[in-house]
Parts: sequence; C-alpha cells; structure tokens
Amino acid sequence: MSNRTFTMIKPDAFSKGHSGAIIDKIQASGFRLIALKLTQLSKEKAGEFYAVHKARPFYGELVDFMSSGPIIAAILEKDNAVADFRKLIGATDPAKAEEGTIRKLYAANVGENAIHGSDSDENASIEGAFFFSGLEQI
Ligand code: RTP
Ligand code: MG
Repeated sequence: MSNRTFTMIKPDAFSKGHSGAIIDKIQASGFRLIALKLTQLSKEKAGEFYAVHKARPFYGELVDFMSSGPIIAAILEKDNAVADFRKLIGATDPAKAEEGTIRKLYAANVGENAIHGSDSDENASIEGAFFFSGLEQI
C-alpha cells in the first residue's frame, strides 16, 4: 500500500463543520478517495489506535478527545502519499504549522489538531485495516 495513506478528520474539526472544506483541500491536492467513513471511536478503540503513545503524559487526554465525537476516517491514494499528506496537514502543533496547511487553517492547539495522517507506509496499512475491511478488493 505504498501509494496510500490513512487519515481521520478529528472530532474538533468535524464538530466545527470543517469536514467538507478539508475533504475539498485533500482532493484538490491530488489525493484520490479510496474509502471514506463517518464513525465514532469508543474509548477502548481510541486507546487501541493510539496505543503507541500509551506512556506519554497526554495519552489520557488524547483518548478522551478522540472518542468525544464523530470522526471521518479515510484511505487516500497518491504517489508518495504518506510524506505528501504529512506535508499537507502540517506540524502537530498548529502554531508551528506552515501557512496553508490543514492544521494551520483549522486546528486550535496541539491536542485538538483537526486531522491525523499516518507516519509510515506500514502504519498507513495497519490504520486503514483498523477501520476498513475488504481492502484487497480496492
Ligand atoms: P497524528 O498521529 O494524530 O497524525 O499526529 P502527529 O503524528 O502529528 O503527532 P503524534 O506525535 O503522533 O501525536 C498524536 C496526537 O497526540 C496529540 N498530542 N498531544 N498535548 C500534547 O503535547 C500532545 N502531543 C501530541 C495530538 O492530537 C497528536 O496529533
Ligand atoms: Mg502520529
């Protein structure tokens, strides 16, 4: 899945009504939608998704936030998808994100930062399979 990445529009951006604008920007930047789903994570599922951060001080807050409301999960396709998408979303802390990036435009702070993007091809594949089944057909 090296030309694919996985994203979530996080509860803050969804509740503020930014999902449409964010999806427009993603598509205008050359990413094709492979799979798309509106859903909500339980605390347990959010904890599982971000298990890599279990030891970090912000883990509890992150799990509470990510399970606090609806999210949009999607698999995206483009050459160099993982790196190009990380560039499009900008730095984790929106105060440090470049102008024009999704986090600069729509995120409030480092905890509630509008959008997720996979950080490697391997994680893109694992995270996509966390939300979508039957991927071998698409
Ligand atoms: P993501 O996984 O959501 O795409 O974000 P990222 O790679 O840019 O950042 P990462 O280090 O993986 O952190 C995951 C998410 O945890 C929250 N966070 N809060 N309060 C804090 O200092 C802090 N640091 C990270 C953010 O929601 C971040 O996106
Ligand atoms: Mg990350």
